[in-house]
Parts: sequence; C-alpha cells; structure tokens
Amino acid sequence: MDLSLKDKVAFVTGASKGIGRAVAEGLAKEGANVVLTARNDEPLQVAANEIAAMSGTEVIGMAGDMSKSDEVERCVNATLKKFGRIDILVTCAGSSPGGLLEDLTEEQWMASLNLKFMGYVRSVRAVIPHMRERGEGSIVLVVGNDGLKPSYWEMTAGVANAADINFASSVAEQYGRYGVRISRRRSRVTRRSSSRARMSSPSHRSPSIASPSRTRWPTSLCSSPRRGRPSSTALTSPSTARSARR
Ligand SMILES: NC(=O)c1ccc[n+]([C@@H]2O[C@H](COP(=O)([O-])OP(=O)(O)OC[C@H]3O[C@@H](n4cnc5c(N)ncnc54)[C@H](OP(=O)(O)O)[C@@H]3O)[C@@H](O)[C@H]2O)c1
Repeated sequence: MDLSLKDKVAFVTGASKGIGRAVAEGLAKEGANVVLTARNDEPLQVAANEIAAMSGTEVIGMAGDMSKSDEVERCVNATLKKFGRIDILVTCAGSSPGGLLEDLTEEQWMASLNLKFMGYVRSVRAVIPHMRERGEGSIVLVVGNDGLKPSYWEMTAGVANAADINFASSVAEQYGRYGVRISRRRSRVTRRSSSRARMSSPSHRSPSIASPSRTRWPTSLCSSPRRGRPSSTALTSPSTARSARR
C-alpha cells in the first residue's frame, strides 16, 4: 500500500534507537524526509546516516532534550526553517523508572511525568500552530498499554501513559476540526531496554510483595493489543486516514 508519505517532512522524538528509530526508518523508507531527535549526538548521527543511506531521503539528526521546552522549540523551529513545514510528528522520547511506591522518590515521579507526559505535550504544542495554519498534519503519540491497566512495577510509566491517552483524545477534539489528525499508538513490549530493564529486574523488587507474574488483575481493567491495527508509520499516512473514514 502506498502510504503517500513521499517528500513529507517528519519529526520523530526519541529516535536514536528503539521504537523511535524503527518509526523513523519506516517513514524514510516510505519516502519521507525525517528529523530525528535524542539527547546524545553521536548515536543520533549514526542512526541518521544509516537511515539516510538505506532510504535515499534527507535524514537529519538534531540533538535536543525533550524534557526542556526551549530545546523542543529550538528543534521544531530549526526543522521548520530547514524544510519549511512539518507534516508528521511522532513522539517516542520517554523513559520511566519502575519501583514500589515507598521506594520511588518525588524526583523520579517528576522526571517520568516531565518527559513521558510533558515532553509529549511540549512537542505537540510546538507543532500545532503550524499544522493548524496549514490545515493539515499528522501526530502520533507512542504510548504504552500500561496507561489502561494497573502495573505492578512500571507505575510511573503507567500514570504518564494514562495522562498521554487523555491528552491525545483531548487534543484531537480541539484540533481535528482544523485538519490535524492525532492518533495514539500502543507500543508493543519489544524488549526491556536501558533503565526499564534495570528497574524491572527482580533484584529491585521487594520479596515481601507478590510477584507480578502471579498477580491477576480484573479483566475488565485490562486491555489486550488488537490485531490488524495500523503501525505508527501507517497512522501518519493520509491514506490510512481516508481508509479509516470509509
Ligand atoms: N520498548 C517497550 O517495550 C515499550 C513498552 C511500552 C512503552 N514504551 C514507550 O515507548 C517509547 C520508546 O520506548 P523505547 O523502548 O523505544 O525506548 P529506548 O529504546 O530506551 O529509546 C529511547 C529514545 O529516547 C531518547 N530519549 C530519552 N530521553 C530523552 C530526552 N529527554 N529527550 C530526547 N530524547 C530522549 C533516547 O536517546 P538519548 O538517551 O540519547 O536521549 C532514545 O533515542 C517510550 O515512551 C517508552 O516509555 C516502550
């Protein structure tokens, strides 16, 4: 299926590795020019060069910290200056510490919310005026399933995800009428990376608390991944929006 993404301009946060990188690759393979952001410049440039070589499109690594408003605005403005527009925003920059309530510090809670929730808010807020003015644009927030069910260990991520879910639908209410499409894509659990892996390790868990694998939640509170859902890349496409409306 042609996703009609050729020559579109995409801005992907948290894209030097993991889900963000995979999305950036998918968009570039479909012919989009892509700006990748992450904090550490070296892996970012490696990712950008590899994706550019594979796709033949323009792929730029732009270092920036999505937990800081001025950095988000700087990256979005630099992208607008370079390409004249942003057609697609995909937000993936996030990392949240796991732990028991008694062990999680206020700083850890705030760091999780500041990046995984407010980082998404900042990115959307930075591109929205431009998309509203043009009367088109596509925004995909990559949000874990933890926001829809209780999570034994990854509570800070779940709470931030729940906020993202509400945010996504509210922004869709506000800006859908201007031609801006806002979707939320559940990230599949691909692997446990970086801080999530360390913090999910059994050595961090209190032996006095029931193991998550033995914990059963009321099924009415759980949601399961649905088959046949479009990928994050497909969600950015106007073709997907057209077929969804049919
Ligand atoms: N993987 C999963 O199974 C899973 C499950 C549920 C939800 N999710 C969610 O999906 C998103 C991506 O997860 P992932 O597993 O692909 O993550 P990942 O492999 O750890 O990659 C995270 C990316 O975000 C960047 N990043 C981190 N902090 C940043 C900041 N302050 N500003 C800008 N970029 C930042 C990282 O680069 P730098 O460190 O260089 O900044 C990296 O490029 C996250 O929001 C995560 O919570 C993932």
